[in-house]
Amino acid sequence: MTQPAASITFTFNDEKVSAVPGQTIAAALFSANQKVLRKTRMGGEDRSIFCGIGICWDCVVTVNGISNQRACIIEVVDSMVVQS
Ligand code: FES
Repeated sequence: MTQPAASITFTFNDEKVSAVPGQTIAAALFSANQKVLRKTRMGGEDRSIFCGIGICWDCVVTVNGISNQRACIIEVVDSMVVQS
């Protein structure tokens, strides 16, 4: 089975990322080999996807200026602006 062609683009920390329609932000970032979604406030440790189902909040990012959005449950949209 072949993957559908990527046809959506968005930015993550000002870098352009391609995505397949229907992917979550986290899935699109993993596909682009971007696995660190944020750093902890205390200590600056890397955080990424942990549960993948919207429970742990490890994957929070800022989406279109709105902070604390869970990348693992939000579908990526063309021209979306995502920041760690
Ligand atoms: S990875 Fe747990 S809420 Fe997103």
